[in-house]
Amino acid sequence: MEKKHKKNKEYTKAPHLVLIGFMGSGKTSIGKSLSYKLRRAFYDTDKMIEDSEGMTISDIFASKGERYFRELETNVLREIRDDRIPRIYSLGGGTPLLLQNQPLIKMCGTVVYLRIGAEEVYERLKGDTTRPLLQCDDPLAKIKNLIALRAPAYERCADIIIDTGNVSRDSVIADVLDRLRELGWKIPADDKEEKTDEDTGDQRPQS
Ligand code: S3P
Repeated sequence: MEKKHKKNKEYTKAPHLVLIGFMGSGKTSIGKSLSYKLRRAFYDTDKMIEDSEGMTISDIFASKGERYFRELETNVLREIRDDRIPRIYSLGGGTPLLLQNQPLIKMCGTVVYLRIGAEEVYERLKGDTTRPLLQCDDPLAKIKNLIALRAPAYERCADIIIDTGNVSRDSVIADVLDRLRELGWKIPADDKEEKTDEDTGDQRPQS
């Protein structure tokens, strides 16, 4: 039988560091710190979606629905997969859940799952009004259900799993860097001032 080869650029893995995990697991703050350590620009997909839609995530959920938002997330994943400049991306907590997103996420690069328990999320996000899925009568129960449902998806996508509950941010960052070194990443020496995206002049191409 003739073997089919797909030699399309689309099928080679992109060079990014991709952070996944539940809401409140620290993807954004850890991502920003890693951006300095790895000298790569950091992007948060929620922010990318808010910028391109011109409204907040809450407003997108309220006016266009969760399904529409999930379609936007899949589109952003395709953009990230096709972006060949090494960067750090943090994904929304629900992105890995859709089956079609899982191979896409793996194609985006090295995937780090920041794992956290329900009580810790609850403590961190008590009073937060920006996560539409947690605006309910019993957010703790909702967090527990969602984590139970999503954990297998996070694990399937992850190359590296780091526990973040009750651990300092610095130790989470050190753990991520150690695991990346084990995978053969070259980590720049820690001798430079922290730089912002503006300093590095890194701009994502507009699609
Ligand atoms: C969501 C997580 C949020 C955001 C949206 C839905 C989820 O992102 O994408 O509110 O389904 O878990 P963060 O994980 O960055 O809070």
